[in-house]
Amino acid sequence: MNTDVVAEIMRLKKEKNAVILAHYYQIPEIQDIADYIGDSLNLSQRASETTAEIILFCGVHFMGETAKILNPTKKVIIPDLNAGCSLADSCPYEEFKSFRNAHPNHLVISYINCSAQIKTLSDIICTSGNARELVESFPKDQPLIFAPDKNLGGYLNRLTGRNMLLWNGTCMVHELLTAEHVLKLKMQYPDYCLIAHPECNASVLELANFIGSTQAMVKYVKNSSQTKFLIATESGIVHQLRKENPNKEFIIVTTDEGCACNDCQYMKLNTLEKVLYSLKTEQYEIKLSEELINQSKKPIIRMLEKSKALGLIK
Ligand code: 13P
Ligand code: SF4
Repeated sequence: MNTDVVAEIMRLKKEKNAVILAHYYQIPEIQDIADYIGDSLNLSQRASETTAEIILFCGVHFMGETAKILNPTKKVIIPDLNAGCSLADSCPYEEFKSFRNAHPNHLVISYINCSAQIKTLSDIICTSGNARELVESFPKDQPLIFAPDKNLGGYLNRLTGRNMLLWNGTCMVHELLTAEHVLKLKMQYPDYCLIAHPECNASVLELANFIGSTQAMVKYVKNSSQTKFLIATESGIVHQLRKENPNKEFIIVTTDEGCACNDCQYMKLNTLEKVLYSLKTEQYEIKLSEELINQSKKPIIRMLEKSKALGLIK
């Protein structure tokens, strides 16, 4: 069954000149048929450079929106319109606007995990792959707001010695991981190296041997002489880790033995069948007004340009 679905996806992809972009948190079957797998930074760059006529984005809604903002004349489709993000949802437009207006001297750095509307209220966008460098690119005395992830923002404050004002948002997946459980696992598996995503809370990050974006984690594992890893992020990443490192061992950090709590319920809405339906029917299309595209594009372009200038992307 799946072989037929995959063959049909490949045929339609070619026929329609479509490109499939997939985030590391997608199910293994989708990662395996994607043209590009990456973290948010890498996928935004791919989206900005593609010559395909259709972009099928296998991730969540804000990622599809970003691809559309960067490619207003192209058709951007996603397999499931309900694939949202708790972090993006934790930052409603009107509330954030009032917060920003209450701090007129502050510039706003927003994590890419936010809606297009929030992007219009931002001076620059960042991802976990470039956040540190972008924060440091501002003069030390420039007051900054960081939204919407308080965990990533807090981590950046500790790393850079800044005192950015933090919006109180979190990712429901990373928020569930506790230092208590990580410590238990560390005692059970003392020869494992802990790598963590900066969306984890401070007490989990304190225990980590390495902290980075999904792509940075994949790179770290590949280049490391260590062979055993505890992984503190969404479970989908383990597929690439195992594929690229067949001789290394991985344990995904959960909150309890065997729970599926670090599956992102949104990322996991996408299936191969939905990908096929999406390509066939060219649904579900991301549609944004011209005004929203023009306003939300500026801080994303600023991010891509600064990231290039800083040598973080080519
Ligand atoms: P990165 O892939 O940029 O590390 O982000 C993780 C994430 O939460 C995406 O939703
Ligand atoms: Fe959003 Fe967290 Fe899911 Fe990423 S893992 S899409 S931040 S809810």
